Amino acid sequence: MHKSIIALGIESSCDDTSIGIIKIDLKDELFTAEGLTLEQMGLVTESQDKLHKDYGGVVPEIAARAHSERIDVCFKEVLEQCNLELDCIDIICVTAGPGLIGGLLSGINFAKGLAFSTGKPLIGVNHLIGHALTPQMTDSLSYPYLILLASGGHCQYLAVSGVNKIERLGTTIDDAPGEVFDKVAKMLGLPIFSGSEVEKYATKGNKNRFSFPLPLINKNDCDLSFSGLKSSVRRQVDRLVEKQSGLYLHDQRDICASFQEAMKLIFENKTKKALELFSKISSDKEMSFSLAGGVAANKTIRDSLKGLCKELNVHFSAPPIALCTDNGLMIAYAGAQIYLGGSEDNMSLSPRPRWPIDMDNQKSHGFGKRGRKV
Ligand code: KG4
Ligand code: ZN
Repeated sequence: MHKSIIALGIESSCDDTSIGIIKIDLKDELFTAEGLTLEQMGLVTESQDKLHKDYGGVVPEIAARAHSERIDVCFKEVLEQCNLELDCIDIICVTAGPGLIGGLLSGINFAKGLAFSTGKPLIGVNHLIGHALTPQMTDSLSYPYLILLASGGHCQYLAVSGVNKIERLGTTIDDAPGEVFDKVAKMLGLPIFSGSEVEKYATKGNKNRFSFPLPLINKNDCDLSFSGLKSSVRRQVDRLVEKQSGLYLHDQRDICASFQEAMKLIFENKTKKALELFSKISSDKEMSFSLAGGVAANKTIRDSLKGLCKELNVHFSAPPIALCTDNGLMIAYAGAQIYLGGSEDNMSLSPRPRWPIDMDNQKSHGFGKRGRKV
């Protein structure tokens, strides 16, 4: 058994090319999550925001090309950052899904090249498991804990009891919240079509000017829905444009603030319900709650969930923003756990654009035309 392991993590499932290297020290002879001490060694993340900016969303073909053009550059940079040679790396971990197939292929092919040329183990990692294990990596959170993963592609409440024991308690039945933040930014004609831009405009807006709907709020579970909220913002924008032939700065700010407030209230309500469900899994232990995904970078949402946890006596932790969004370190960390648990892949590793984290869970999402949904 290794005394320590150096793991490389490659992430290219969406629009961030990110490579991380971590060293995991094993305190005990046997691997246990609590026995890990972690040392963050290096992380290089290149965002593709500028490439997709004019299209109002991620263009899969552009993303795939950019990943394959930049992945080796990021790899070289992260090795330099850590002052390491390729030989020092023990395992090669790569996101194998879910995500955009072109980006996944770029990452997997690069990882296979490294594994083949060095003879090092190759581990395909589920991107969602990477997010789900992040609070353990950053805050040494012990199992079980509840995590809200809210990003541009996903929205799920996950009860995490181990690397292979993750239960989905609730999920969005339509859009992902980050996607809706991006679309609202586009509808309003903000300079950047992103949630961070909406947050910026919201700080100077009046959150009480518009009252947007809170879908599924009265349902007694933690499934979420955002498409009705998105349509309502669309209708409000259209009404204002018709009335005054355009939007003023104060309109943009007020819509951002009111929309963000609706998002905050939805997450507050659903997190309360998710914690109720989780209390049955967590039994007598103090409950822990954490956040991940790009939307977790939103200060209003983050602070309100922190406040809710305080009120309910639940331990709250949130990873640093750079590790909430897509990154190679979370893939390295999850991959190391999978490897130490006795699994690895070989050269037949293939991308899995749809790869549910909780295969037993039939609720909400069945099968689409292209297979089981995430
Ligand atoms: O986790 P992430 O980096 O990528 C995936 O989607 O997997 O999340 C990106 C999403 C984008 O939709 C972006 O608009 C949203 O997270 N986001 C935010 C904020 N920063 C990023 N949403 C709300 N407020 C923010 N401050
Ligand atoms: Zn993600």
